[in-house]
Amino acid sequence: MNFELTEEHLNVQQAARDFAQTELLPGVIERDETGTFPMEQVRKLGELGFMGMMVDPKYGGSGMDTISYVLAMEELSKVDASTSVVVSVNNSLVCWGLETYGNEEQKMKYLVPLASGKIHGAFLLSEPEAGSDATSQRTIAEDKGDYYLINGTKNWITSGSSADTYIVIAQTHVDKGHKGINAFIVEKKSDGITIGNKEHKMGIRGSDTHSIMFQDVKVPKENRIGEDGFGFKFAMKTLAGGRIGIASQALGIASGAMELAIKYSKERKAFGTEIKNHQAIQFKLADMATQVEMARLLCLKAAWLKDQHKDYGLASSMAKLFSSTAAMEITTEAVQVHGGYGYVREYHVERMMRDAKITQIYEGTSEVQKIVISREILK
Ligand code: CAA
Repeated sequence: MNFELTEEHLNVQQAARDFAQTELLPGVIERDETGTFPMEQVRKLGELGFMGMMVDPKYGGSGMDTISYVLAMEELSKVDASTSVVVSVNNSLVCWGLETYGNEEQKMKYLVPLASGKIHGAFLLSEPEAGSDATSQRTIAEDKGDYYLINGTKNWITSGSSADTYIVIAQTHVDKGHKGINAFIVEKKSDGITIGNKEHKMGIRGSDTHSIMFQDVKVPKENRIGEDGFGFKFAMKTLAGGRIGIASQALGIASGAMELAIKYSKERKAFGTEIKNHQAIQFKLADMATQVEMARLLCLKAAWLKDQHKDYGLASSMAKLFSSTAAMEITTEAVQVHGGYGYVREYHVERMMRDAKITQIYEGTSEVQKIVISREILK
């Protein structure tokens, strides 16, 4: 077993670290306060190849492996989780699904601009009454011969207004349950699409989360992904990879908060010495470092399995479950290490604590991950 990263991996990691420091850090507090979407940063990430990291260069991607993706996601998320979620959704939920299950025409038309980062995409699965219970789709895609007519509402859509291309999951054959669900490529500019107000969120406030309403939206038949009825499997398979991205996001939030806590403990003095010399702080830092290491190993293992074309659903759910819990605990402790300073904006850790919470909710709550894990081990 080899735990060494290759030179290529180290280069990607360094490039993401540099980008985070020079391009994300300067405005991160302001974007969080004002709820401003990081469009300029997302486009620059596209130019650097971070929006289609694992996509074949012939479709506009960077042709990297999933380990590189985990490393980049950790570095970006250490500084700005609002930006890294846009990167994760585009790479995992939009580009990966299109490259793996789309046909050649779909890839040339939609994947190329998405993977090269000229535009970015969103994944529309959740509904007002279908969150964890994803089979209960109420959005209907009626088969009208050479097109589908989509009606319904999607909720909590990451990049809902900034994205140009949507992957929409909808029910076509109600009588067939999840076997009657389809996945479609839908252009945001299509007639009949209304974007609801931006959600006022606790964390990842820079990312634009919206409801999207569909009223008689015509989608050409050639925009269906895969065979008729493949949509639910498509969504589940796509989410298994997406969970590696969100696990890595949680890892980054956790390791970023830990680094800030270590730095602060060397600067802040109390009771006549730097607080790093107090065992109460040392024990917190030791727990943080151990959790970060465990989260990183789980993320890299899931990525490695995916790169080896082995089954990675169990590993990605374990990575997401553990990393998101660790992110919540570590950011809370990082605020504690900072004391009163931790509770104000300038020190970053309060934002990270708010951002950490979403990693236990989106792309499957912690409870959903436990369903996936327990079903797998009880098989
Ligand atoms: N790969 C392939 N097929 C899969 C699969 C997988 N990983 N998981 C399930 N399936 C198949 C099953 O085999 C089954 O097919 P058959 O009937 O042919 O055997 C079918 O899908 C239904 O599966 P289940 O019976 O397991 O379905 P369920 O209703 O019990 O639900 C669940 C399982 C794990 C809870 C699932 O509904 C789920 O993952 N829910 C969470 C949804 C989610 O993650 N939403 C995130 C929204 S996107 C987002 O958050 C993006 C963002 O903003 C960042």
